[in-house]
Amino acid sequence: MKKYFLLAIIGLSVFYKGFAEEGMWLPQLLQSMNEKDMKRMGMKINASDIYNINRGSLKDAIVSFGGFCTAEVISDKGLLLTNHHCGFDAIQTHSSLQNNYIKNGFWAYNNGQELKNEGLFATFIVRIEDVTKAVLSGLRDDLSEKERQGLIDKNMAALKQMVKKESYQDILIRSFFEANKYYLFVTETYRDVRLVGAPPSSIGNYGKDTDNWMWPRHTGDFSMFRIYAGKNNKPAAYSPDNVPYQPKRSLQISLDGVKEGDFTMVFGFPGRTNEYLHSSAIEQTVRVNDPAKVGIRTKALQVIDGFMRSDETIGIQYAKKYANISNAWKKWQGEILGLTKSNAVQKRKEMEDGFEKIVLSKPELNVAYVGLLNNLKTAYDKIEPYGFARDYFSEITSKIEILGFANQLKAVVNAYEKNGEAGYAEAKTKAIKRLEDDYGDYSVAVDKKLFEVLMDMYVADQKDNYVSPFFKSLLKQNNNNYAKTADAVFSQSKVYDSKKLQTLLTGSAKDVTEAITNDMAYQLILDMQETFSKEVAGNLNALQAEINQLQRIYMKAQMDVFTKKAFYPDANSTLRVTYGNVKDYQPRDGVKYEFQSYMEGVMEKYVPGDYEFDLPKKMIDLYNKKDFGRWGVNGRQPVCFIAANHTTGGNSGSPALDAYGNLVGLNFDRVWEGTMSDINYDPSICRNIMVDIRYVMFIVDKYAEAKNLIAEMKFVSKKTKK
Ligand code: ARG
Ligand code: ASP
Repeated sequence: MKKYFLLAIIGLSVFYKGFAEEGMWLPQLLQSMNEKDMKRMGMKINASDIYNINRGSLKDAIVSFGGFCTAEVISDKGLLLTNHHCGFDAIQTHSSLQNNYIKNGFWAYNNGQELKNEGLFATFIVRIEDVTKAVLSGLRDDLSEKERQGLIDKNMAALKQMVKKESYQDILIRSFFEANKYYLFVTETYRDVRLVGAPPSSIGNYGKDTDNWMWPRHTGDFSMFRIYAGKNNKPAAYSPDNVPYQPKRSLQISLDGVKEGDFTMVFGFPGRTNEYLHSSAIEQTVRVNDPAKVGIRTKALQVIDGFMRSDETIGIQYAKKYANISNAWKKWQGEILGLTKSNAVQKRKEMEDGFEKIVLSKPELNVAYVGLLNNLKTAYDKIEPYGFARDYFSEITSKIEILGFANQLKAVVNAYEKNGEAGYAEAKTKAIKRLEDDYGDYSVAVDKKLFEVLMDMYVADQKDNYVSPFFKSLLKQNNNNYAKTADAVFSQSKVYDSKKLQTLLTGSAKDVTEAITNDMAYQLILDMQETFSKEVAGNLNALQAEINQLQRIYMKAQMDVFTKKAFYPDANSTLRVTYGNVKDYQPRDGVKYEFQSYMEGVMEKYVPGDYEFDLPKKMIDLYNKKDFGRWGVNGRQPVCFIAANHTTGGNSGSPALDAYGNLVGLNFDRVWEGTMSDINYDPSICRNIMVDIRYVMFIVDKYAEAKNLIAEMKFVSKKTKK
């Protein structure tokens, strides 16, 4: 009796350990899986206040912002809050040398001043259903992977037809737990989303790349948008007649801030994690893939940075591209560091040993899973050279833009070959539109230099048979000089400039397709692709399919073996809740990082005229006068804070909510020592970084003086809380 009691207690503590901090949980399962744990950690509301399909709940205030970030509704007039770096594309698009919103910020002081954004959307989740049974129905063990997927696709298509929805709603089915489970989402997408406000980059991206992925942080990484709807409040295409959307639910803003140990949760759309990998996959990431990608981006960034600093136009044109390239570049370096320092491979191996022991001890598990780990290891070993080649190919061909431009014209040639004149005209119009868009942010000088530097790596670092023969002969013709080779390609191509493109695309369909086919950049990208598909893609895809199948079995195996552990599915851009406590951390021996930063820190970092750490004069004046209004505490202005919430890319812009579900922060980053959390979450050092909501309000109110926005939001503090 006593023994069982003890076991139960141990079981329970293991259970809680599996729960706290790590995990991105499904909102519809919180009640059954997490509610107790969340309340134990300090939550004061119920799971049904977070996700409820019968009445308004917090989920009705959360949107996927353009499919790449999260945003939340913070007023009953459809006002959206997200990050500066999430709204940046919109901010850049509206910017020019005359109206440089990147540099000076932008504020709409009435609805009429808000700016429309083509292509931007906000998607609400109406409800989520488990459809695993229907999706997997009819599957047999003897089906090949291809037959299996075929049947699954058919089942999903049938399901989509059957499910009840309104005409303005959409249906989406996603696989979870490496395709062991399937959930269906009914969604509502609003496509008239207007820019309302953004601080200057010197606030919204303060510290830029130096501070990115780092704590302590002092960035006001936010921007504001507004959802517009048709007169019936339903989704409608952009129209000047549309009206501000009236949400089912909007978030209230807490003025109380956070204390050490406070409960927080982050509600949003995390993009992609890989928490259940085999140790050899982690080892390969650290040794092969991350370094390959980092190496290429290091060179690319050096080139772009040089041009951006000496030319303001290029500075605007390349701001977004530069930020994108450098963001993952820095993260991968942190990932290598973190995985190495935390002994992630060794720890995973120990877990695998435990797994193996349990499998061997139980006949039914033995039958199903013996040899699985070995098969995984073999498959990862085999894929290594192809994975390296894939990373090289995709990094290089995406950084040299002339190759991408040429590639766009493939659709035109293909359309003509397939459908003659009819398809051709349409494909041509489409290609022109896309290319003209891209030319807006393009500099030939930058691209030529990128070509020169990166094609050198393409040749020097790869096995000879992975290198395009066409390029090899070009290089030879130009005395193995990469600059000369770049000149040759650019002088014999018309794909990178509006005027040249016009010449290229003028004439009969037959003449044009012929001219495209003779364009040198076109010939080059085609030969690079062909070489890749001949030498790499076949093996790569076959091995990847094998790994996917093995990981699917391994996922189920882990759940069958570790029956006490609570599993959460890897992130896949679907709505999730993660929760944890506000907490400081120790990055290394003898150093402790506080959980909150203040404006003193903004001022400490300030370097007048600097590219990363300059500040608007008005901010300095406000600071010197300690004019923080109701957003400061005891004469200090809080700026950012950290907590142990398990987040990833895509969670940017997600609300950080307190125990009562009120908005206390805006998620935007993670700490350097914990960037490995996508592969190996370590509760001792993984922290997410949020802008303190009071800093956001200080900037809107005191810096921008956008009283119109403050007036439409709803604030709460202990005095008004029940
Ligand atoms: N690291 C954060 C995230 O992954 C923020 C990136 C934006 N800031 C920047 N300096 N690029 O997206
Ligand atoms: N900064 C990331 C984003 O843009 C969030 C993260 O990776 O922690 O989604």
